[in-house]
Amino acid sequence: MRLQKIVIAIDGYSACGKSTTAKEVAKVLGYRYIDSGAMYRAVTLYFLDHHVSLTNPKEIDRALQQISITFKVNAKSFTETYLNGLNVEREIRKMRVSDQVSQVSAIKQVREAMVAQQRKLGKERGIVMDGRDIGTVVFPDAELKLFMTADILVRAFRRQREWLDQDRLIDLDEVLENIQKRDQIDTTREESPLRKADDAVMIDTTHITIDEQVDQVIGLAISKIIVNI
Ligand code: DC
Repeated sequence: MRLQKIVIAIDGYSACGKSTTAKEVAKVLGYRYIDSGAMYRAVTLYFLDHHVSLTNPKEIDRALQQISITFKVNAKSFTETYLNGLNVEREIRKMRVSDQVSQVSAIKQVREAMVAQQRKLGKERGIVMDGRDIGTVVFPDAELKLFMTADILVRAFRRQREWLDQDRLIDLDEVLENIQKRDQIDTTREESPLRKADDAVMIDTTHITIDEQVDQVIGLAISKIIVNI
């Protein structure tokens, strides 16, 4: 018997608990956690702040060349996103970014640039990455693929609570509308639409707790990590 380092790809709809699960699983396994959505959010923030036109391929190319996205683990063991050396973790979660990120992440050039970076980050394996196309496009060879889903109202409540934790009360209708709009764009876009990989395990998180999600994923991961020889 031997242990191998694997890639765990977690895809699914917004606000299903993907990143909370992914972070915890990475911590338990001693793996790196990469939030691919944060990368698209950082690009969106840059595009907004620099008034990059989403319909001008030259401008987009030029902007992408100016963007460097990195991750650092802070003192509380929480991974934070840096854009050109600046901590943007809070900024990229704001509604102005959430409102635009699906449009930006549907752009082919943006996806190509991010997928190339994501593949580099996963070269050594020992990684948990969450997103929309990780099991289908970024790591089609991932040893473990998961696809998360949950009832849309439960997802909206959970996202609203996350905002409340940051002392912001956002109307449930507004949260729901944002999630619905993103689902629609994420699943129907031409470039790498959100879909379950054929070999992904489906997890419906409507009625289970985060701890149960984590336990389920760890159980599945262990069966892939242990190789009988
Ligand atoms: O996971 P998130 O909600 O932070 O992702 C933000 C947006 O980025 C989401 O609406 C779709 C997009 N995204 C993507 O297209 N591909 C990924 N691998 C991750 C996120």
